[in-house]
Amino acid sequence: MTIHALIPCAGSGARMAGDLPKQYRVVAGAAIVAHTVRAFLHCKAVDHVYVVVQPGDAYARLVLGDDARVRIVPAGGVSRAASVVGGLDWLRATGASVDDWVLVHDAARCCVTPAAITQLVSACADDRVGGLLALPLPDTLKHADAEDRVGATLPREGLWLAQTPQMFRLGVLREALRVAPDVTDEASAMEAAGLRPLLVRGAASNFKVTYADDLEVAAAILGARNGA
Ligand code: C5P
Repeated sequence: MTIHALIPCAGSGARMAGDLPKQYRVVAGAAIVAHTVRAFLHCKAVDHVYVVVQPGDAYARLVLGDDARVRIVPAGGVSRAASVVGGLDWLRATGASVDDWVLVHDAARCCVTPAAITQLVSACADDRVGGLLALPLPDTLKHADAEDRVGATLPREGLWLAQTPQMFRLGVLREALRVAPDVTDEASAMEAAGLRPLLVRGAASNFKVTYADDLEVAAAILGARNGA
């Protein structure tokens, strides 16, 4: 069984102020994407880690250094899904098989642990579809009206927050994204293809660094793990 990690790292971080895209901001002594990649390198099951960046991006090499298991792929696109497609096509062009598994993971989810990745791999390795880390919705869900007042309270039963990694076979995922190119995660494309990805319970700490406040939370989690 061959498993590739594919890390879309080509966003501009528009929801966070600052000169650098968020994946290159430093927390707990290293760039966000460096923490992310390190978690995958600690998983023996993962063959190589492919980091998809915008063409001409020089930061990735700078912050990731030279590791034989890390490949920088200058195939980023205009959306996260386009960057994932660029990475999948690169994988195929460089010899990966349609039957290989791909773990797609946001560069900005830097608090993911090797244990959580391994848990997903164990749960999905014998599954015919694959699946994703996710979290049962912990809070009460409100639907806002046009004035940002509560329009409705939605039942949260059965609702999960989708996280990454998301683990699918390369060929099926590529075809699903061809048909549904506007999705915000891989599972949505698989669902549009009529498949039912497996939900594997993750942890709240595997959040996506999105807003400026998130940097502090990520630094606290990573710092505590590293004994800082
Ligand atoms: O913007 P958002 O937080 O949804 O991005 C999730 C992940 O997708 C980030 O790691 C970001 O770098 C990546 N991304 C990308 N290409 C884009 C947009 C986002 O690789 N065009």
